[in-house]
Amino acid sequence: SIEEQDNLSQEMKEMILSLPRERGWRTPYLYLFQGFWCQPAEIQAISTFQNHFQAKKSDVFVATVPKSGTTWLKALTFAIINRQNHFISSKNHPLLSFNPHDLVPFIEYTVYGKHDKIPDLSNIQEPRLFGTHIPFDSLPNSIKDSNCKIVYICRNPFDTFISSWCFANKIKPPHLPTLNLEDAFEMYCNGSVGFGPFWNHMLGYWNESKERPKNVLFLKYEDMKEDVHFHLKKMAEFFNCPFTLEEENEGVVENIIKLCSFEKMKELEINKIGTFGRNFENKHLFRKGEIGDWTNHLSPSMVDKLSKVIEEKLGGSGLKF
Ligand code: A3P
Repeated sequence: SIEEQDNLSQEMKEMILSLPRERGWRTPYLYLFQGFWCQPAEIQAISTFQNHFQAKKSDVFVATVPKSGTTWLKALTFAIINRQNHFISSKNHPLLSFNPHDLVPFIEYTVYGKHDKIPDLSNIQEPRLFGTHIPFDSLPNSIKDSNCKIVYICRNPFDTFISSWCFANKIKPPHLPTLNLEDAFEMYCNGSVGFGPFWNHMLGYWNESKERPKNVLFLKYEDMKEDVHFHLKKMAEFFNCPFTLEEENEGVVENIIKLCSFEKMKELEINKIGTFGRNFENKHLFRKGEIGDWTNHLSPSMVDKLSKVIEEKLGGSGLKF
């Protein structure tokens, strides 16, 4: 229960207990905080972040819907931005010995995840790279008002759902019951999934990317898969470090693609046997990496239902999957 969580302050516990709650996917409950569903430890970290974070104009945020390609986008972002200090073809490239979540730390788990400390981030080498699942509206004003860059990725909701369901069952604590597909599906369609509803998450960044395209780059997993070369160049331009003709001719773009590919990353020692945080096994981050696995899991009535949700919530937005 919340009372037993020694990583939460008393004040936080009281605040969280006042929030609406639903059954969680891999924790007993999810709580509705600022219009999205999340776990108690995340709420505390996000509050600290909102109260203390000072953006710098050179900051880069990798913002994502969970299970939409976060690991991949972090790897690509790190490789593109740091390619002058870390040559892509180097045998010592950090992506060969660190998981992308170590190189682009999550705001809500890593950076602000230690409840008794407000981290000093002022001396981190610029540009600072951070990852987050926090919806756009809940980012601190310091970020919204600064000129920093946010690269966002989402994925078609059918695949995101299956990926989330598989992941939740792999990493849930053993004392929680297995989450069956039907229950998870209802929760997903109702919006009660970590950082969901997914449609609000997507729309927040989608709308901002239309308003401020120089600051928010909106990507989709499927588009990236289809033409990663094109999107890599687009990302580099967005980060104000476009690939030179010389780099293109030397194969730098292709080498980044290879370095960050599912096949390559999945087979690295760090990702096969390495762990992240206290006891999270990196291998769970690499499952199939394909488009359309949902066709192996969802019944026709489920497909029908989720299609209707997507149409109803995103139909007017211009955002399509
Ligand atoms: P599947 O579960 O469909 O295989 P996230 O990184 O946001 O947690 O997203 C996880 C999904 O991205 C998983 O999808 C995972 O297999 C896939 N993935 C991980 N690394 C990838 C990579 N380098 N390229 C493409 N997809 C990747």
